[in-house]
Amino acid sequence: MDEKLALRILSISIYNSAMTQSPRRATPADQANPVAIEPLIAFSDVHVGFDEGDVLRGISFEVWPGETKILLGETGTGKTLIMKLGAGLLRADSGRIWVMGHELSEMHEQELLAFRRHLGFVFQEGALFDSITVAENVGFRLREENLPDAKIEARVREVLRFVELESTYDMFPGDLSGGMRRRVSIARALADRPPMVFYDSPTAGLDPVTSQTIITLIMRGRDLQDVTSLIATHRVQDAFGLANYRFDEASGRVMHLNGNSQQAAQQQGNSHRTTPTNVLVLREGQIYFEGAADDLLHTSDEYLKKFLASAE
Ligand SMILES: Nc1ncnc2c1ncn2[C@@H]1O[C@H](COP(=O)(O)OP(=O)(O)O)[C@@H](O)[C@H]1O
Ligand SMILES: [Mg+2]
Repeated sequence: MDEKLALRILSISIYNSAMTQSPRRATPADQANPVAIEPLIAFSDVHVGFDEGDVLRGISFEVWPGETKILLGETGTGKTLIMKLGAGLLRADSGRIWVMGHELSEMHEQELLAFRRHLGFVFQEGALFDSITVAENVGFRLREENLPDAKIEARVREVLRFVELESTYDMFPGDLSGGMRRRVSIARALADRPPMVFYDSPTAGLDPVTSQTIITLIMRGRDLQDVTSLIATHRVQDAFGLANYRFDEASGRVMHLNGNSQQAAQQQGNSHRTTPTNVLVLREGQIYFEGAADDLLHTSDEYLKKFLASAE
C-alpha cells in the first residue's frame, strides 16, 4: 500500500480510538472511502483570552485529509494563536481541538512532544537554527528518528531540490536571503513527509515576487505530494493564488483554473488532481466567512468587500 495512504489510515484509526466524542459520525458512504472518515483537524467552539480580553470567541472549523484551508485575517485577528493551538503549543480556555486523532486538551506535555513530531510547521519567524548548516536544519527530525546517515542525506537532498535550494546544502541560514530561509523552513517541514503541515504567515515580510515563489511551493506540495495544510495569511492574494491555480507536473508550470477551480481540476482527470482549497476569514475572534475563494470573491458583504479591496 502507498506509504502515505497507510499513514493516513493509521492516523484516522488512532483518531477514532482516541476520541471521546466525534465532531461528526462517520456515515456508510464515508466507510467506502477510508481516507476521508474524519477531519485531520477539528476545532469546536474554541475560546482564548488574555488580560486585555477575549481574542478567540468560539472558533469551529475542520480540515479534511487532502484539503488546503486558508485562514485569512488582518494582523492581530488570532491566526498565530490558532496555529499554536493546533500544534498543542497553547491550551484553549474552553472548547475542544482534535488533531490527527488526538484531543489535545487530554494530552500531557510528553505526549504533545511526540505528537508534534508527526506534523510539519513553518512558523512566521522561520525558526531555523543559525549555528548548523541548511542540511542539518532540514534533516533535524530525520536524525531524531535515528535514520541511517545515507538515508538522511538522500532525503535532505531530495527535499532541498524540491524547494530548488540543493546548492545551499552546506551553507548556514545566515548566508541566505529571507525568502531562501523561508524555503528551507518549508523543506524542513516536508522532510519526513508529515500528513499535515501548518504554515503560519509564510509570506509575511517578503516582497511580492518572493511571496509568489513561496505560494507556488506550497501549491506544489499540495498538487504533487497531496500535503494537507492549514495556512494562515493576511494576504488576500495568497488565498486566491492557491485557490485559482494549480501546479501541473507534466509541464512543470503553474496553470490557471477557469471557473469552479475544484471541478475543473477534477475534470482534468490526471492522477495529481488539485485538492479542495477553502478559505476561512477571521474577524473579531470569530469565523466571519467560510467557503470557496470564488464565493468570497463574489460576496456582497461590505466588510469582506473592503478586506478584498485592501489587497496590495
Ligand atoms: N501571550 C499573549 N499575551 C497577550 N496577548 C496575546 C498573546 N498572544 C497573542 N496575544 C494577542 O492576541 C491577538 C492575536 O494575536 P495573533 O494570533 O498573533 O494574531 P495574528 O497572527 O492574526 O496577527 C493580538 O491582539 C495579540 O496581541
Ligand atoms: Mg501571526
